[in-house]
Amino acid sequence: LSGDQVLVVSNREPYIHSQEGETIRVQRPASGLVTAVEPVMKACSGTWIAHGSGSADRQTVDAHDRVGVPPEKPAYTLRRIWLSREEESGYYYGFANEGLWPLCHIAHVRPVFRSNDWQQYVAINRRFADAVVREAKTDDPVVLVQDYHLALLPGYIRAALPKATVITFWHIPWPNPESFGICPWREEVLQGMLGSTILGFHTPFHCKNFIETVDRYLETRIEHESSTISHNGKLTMVESYPISIQWPSPWQESQASVEECAREIRSSLGIGPDCLVGIGVDRLDYTKGILERFWAVERMLELHPELVGRFTFIQIAAPTRTALDDYQNFDAQVRALAARINKRFATASWQPLVLRIEHHEPEEVNRYYRAADVCMVTSLHDGMNLVAKEYVAARDDERGALVLSQFTGAAHELHEALLVNPYHIEQTAEALHEALVMPEYEQRERMRSMRALVRDFNVYRWAGRMLLDAARIRQREKLAA
Ligand code: G6P
Repeated sequence: LSGDQVLVVSNREPYIHSQEGETIRVQRPASGLVTAVEPVMKACSGTWIAHGSGSADRQTVDAHDRVGVPPEKPAYTLRRIWLSREEESGYYYGFANEGLWPLCHIAHVRPVFRSNDWQQYVAINRRFADAVVREAKTDDPVVLVQDYHLALLPGYIRAALPKATVITFWHIPWPNPESFGICPWREEVLQGMLGSTILGFHTPFHCKNFIETVDRYLETRIEHESSTISHNGKLTMVESYPISIQWPSPWQESQASVEECAREIRSSLGIGPDCLVGIGVDRLDYTKGILERFWAVERMLELHPELVGRFTFIQIAAPTRTALDDYQNFDAQVRALAARINKRFATASWQPLVLRIEHHEPEEVNRYYRAADVCMVTSLHDGMNLVAKEYVAARDDERGALVLSQFTGAAHELHEALLVNPYHIEQTAEALHEALVMPEYEQRERMRSMRALVRDFNVYRWAGRMLLDAARIRQREKLAA
């Protein structure tokens, strides 16, 4: 694809500028999508189109709404799209996050579909399409469309730029046809997505669900052998591309030693060097199994009272989608549960749970990973979950253990993690205990093979495979023309 223009389109932007008093602060959002796509963009220096969501975003762009990023050393262009409060409410909070998000995750939160939200979703998808057309320098750019906020965008791009190669990646799970059938605009959503040249999911299972959904609700021709769908004279290839992270980690050279991180974090918590530490890092989202994780910590302390006073679990939770009731309620539940468990077990100098509901920059999270004896990822349902891979990447000392939900995409790759069903509290509690008493040689063995996997199947490989498939299709199309 050398010489071809690459455009990325997502709702979430990689850098958010916000006004704090007199100064403008830059923040990296907590988003698996951004973590994965940013290194790819840095490598191919294209244009990233996204919603300008920060209070100082407008002050930091040029007359064409563009800004070079990363701010300290620009490597690519961020082109911002502006949404009114009403548009954001319907398109982002409403259809995307109250409709599609719970629809696609099995977390037992009822999806809400409103006609008004749908209308905003349609209008904003069109606005992103207009921006793609305006940013396109040729009639055949390669456009990487990201996630469930932009399901209609591939169709709009295809209509405006028929020669474009549209690679759409769906970062969250795809449900079975019955579940997806709840969406009142299911045909429109599916048709929009079939504007893609390539449609990627994390796992073969999500691909299968998608193909079966299309089969159920649209008139198409499906070639199961080649995993392609033919719709309105256009082919879409449906394929699994498990997403990953940058390797080596961006802090490989500059980071503090594991011992320093362990010391620093233990002393900031006022706990002794012998106290074991667990870490959880999530957005404060009801799909992440944070309540189940705390119940498991509680059960583990009941079953293994010798660890009372000797184990602290730190939960970092980035506030997210805070305007929505489901998220506000979840926030209250998490705080109340942590308070109850702490009250039950705390001594004068120790408490089992440390809950930090605030944004942490990735470098800081990396220090927690390096300090922690165990990392717990207990999502009830998750497309991939990059925290699991980040923890493994952070442990160049080959120590530490990972407790991982079997309902994550990551569980299909990280077989040496301690796999759990987070709904089974007893089992999760025992896995946590097993992680905490795991002999050093076993930690090393498991870590070594998980690290080899993340190293070999890193984010460049994820993007590389998609771009290679796109290059082949482009070549074939050019020959056929
Ligand atoms: C998930 C989604 C991303 C999203 C991220 C953060 O990982 O797949 O598209 O960016 O959550 O959520 P937010 O609503 O803050 O962008």
